[in-house]
Amino acid sequence: MFGSIILMNTTLIEIRRAKPTDAVSVAETHDEAWRNAYRGIIPGAELEKLISRRGPAWWESAIRKGSRVALLGFGDRIAGYANYGRNRARSLFYDGEIYEIYLRPEFQGLGFGRRLFTAARRDLAQSGLKSLVIWALSDNDPAVEFYRALGGRAVARSSEKFGNRTLDKVAFAWRA
Ligand SMILES: CC(C)(COP(=O)(O)OP(=O)(O)OC[C@H]1O[C@@H](n2cnc3c(N)ncnc32)[C@H](O)[C@@H]1OP(=O)(O)O)[C@@H](O)C(=O)NCCC(=O)NCCS
Repeated sequence: MFGSIILMNTTLIEIRRAKPTDAVSVAETHDEAWRNAYRGIIPGAELEKLISRRGPAWWESAIRKGSRVALLGFGDRIAGYANYGRNRARSLFYDGEIYEIYLRPEFQGLGFGRRLFTAARRDLAQSGLKSLVIWALSDNDPAVEFYRALGGRAVARSSEKFGNRTLDKVAFAWRA
């Protein structure tokens, strides 16, 4: 379904659906990416709490229950993942949502985020979810720039409390 297999200097790069045995690598990728992206944005104690809730057991259970998680494999490493499904915000008239898209820090800025986004969008469209949204913290400048570069339009704003800090969020959307 994802079929994105490229050889770059003999390193195999592929996008595929996560299996329960990938849970440890996905949890590691999540931890590294979150610490790197949100340090200085989400209060430290709250950030560690959020990360600790999303360990291998959480990922294994989510994958087993059928959550859609796409991985980008770089050789024998997992460079990043995206998880996605039905749009959760009923007030927004979009079919699908990419809940998270994260790359390990050393794999950022190489075009892999675009590949993961495209694979997730295609997979959503194949199951009839043709338009989509993604939420980002407004302070997460690299993510905001990334979604703009991918043609997303800011369509809604909201906020969320993290410990004692309230942070603004922005929803980017892509039409069918
Ligand atoms: C955001 C993220 C998924 C983007 O993936 P990436 O592989 O680094 O981005 P790509 O190399 O595929 O870039 C795709 C496009 O976005 C643009 N872009 C990416 N990061 C950018 C930045 N910080 N500033 C400006 N433009 C940026 C690129 O220039 C590129 O544009 P082009 O294709 O027109 O040249 C990745 O950097 C990441 O995981 N960041 C940390 C976690 C995070 O914030 N995730 C999103 C949470 S909402």
